Amino acid sequence: MLIAQLSDPHVRPKDVLYQGVVDSNAGLADAVEHVCALTTRPDLVLVTGDLVDHGEPAEYDHARKILGRLPIPYLVIPGNHDDRENFRLAFADHHYLPRTGPLHYCVDDHPVRVIGLDSTVPGRHHGHLDDAGLDWLAGTLAQDTAKPTLIMLHHPPFVSGIPYMDEYRYFEGAALAAVVERAPNVEIVVCGHVHRSMVRRWAGTVIVTCPSTATEIDLRLAASAEPSSHGGPRGYLLHLWDEREGMTTHANQIGDFAGPYPFA
Ligand SMILES: [Fe+2]
Repeated sequence: MLIAQLSDPHVRPKDVLYQGVVDSNAGLADAVEHVCALTTRPDLVLVTGDLVDHGEPAEYDHARKILGRLPIPYLVIPGNHDDRENFRLAFADHHYLPRTGPLHYCVDDHPVRVIGLDSTVPGRHHGHLDDAGLDWLAGTLAQDTAKPTLIMLHHPPFVSGIPYMDEYRYFEGAALAAVVERAPNVEIVVCGHVHRSMVRRWAGTVIVTCPSTATEIDLRLAASAEPSSHGGPRGYLLHLWDEREGMTTHANQIGDFAGPYPFA
């Protein structure tokens, strides 16, 4: 099974630029086109939050138009730039989304079970799951402790080392880790939010973050670093699952590159 992960497209209304400078709508369109052109078509696409920038209905309309070009099913979770209720309304036909409360869900239609977590805190930018969310996750994981499982949430539940991102990180990640590490079958946890690719060991499994289709947040590790980002490189992740070989994650960049060259 091949799973594509797109993240943080920050879609704006038609013909409106992200932060007045970047065409994030074109970025998502490019990513969708890139995924569709892969020689092996993914079975499923995950979009890990910040689908739009201001949580507005006009932005969701446009995001749906672009994502509608995917000939593949896709699953969405919200990020801190989404508005939970507008998000729910915009994806009302995505029946896996609950009708009230946080947008946690489990989709078990594929060789890999997908658990989506809503790590947003309405009106705030940091991430968190309350006790009810942690209980829901523990119960859902306990329902099947054998099937390979992927968990996705917008906010990485660890310190990135980038100070201006860590201000808005997932708070109290240890409580989430305590739930996840009890499940022996979580193959991978996938996140967005940081607009760049990271990987680490976490809660007895592997956790990765996905680049944004809009901008890359710059890697500045000094405590006094000012926030900074650039228009690229943009990219996405491909999670390749094989029953015998396990889960392998590939990072794929979007853009024009020279080649192909003969391989010798
Ligand atoms: Fe974002």
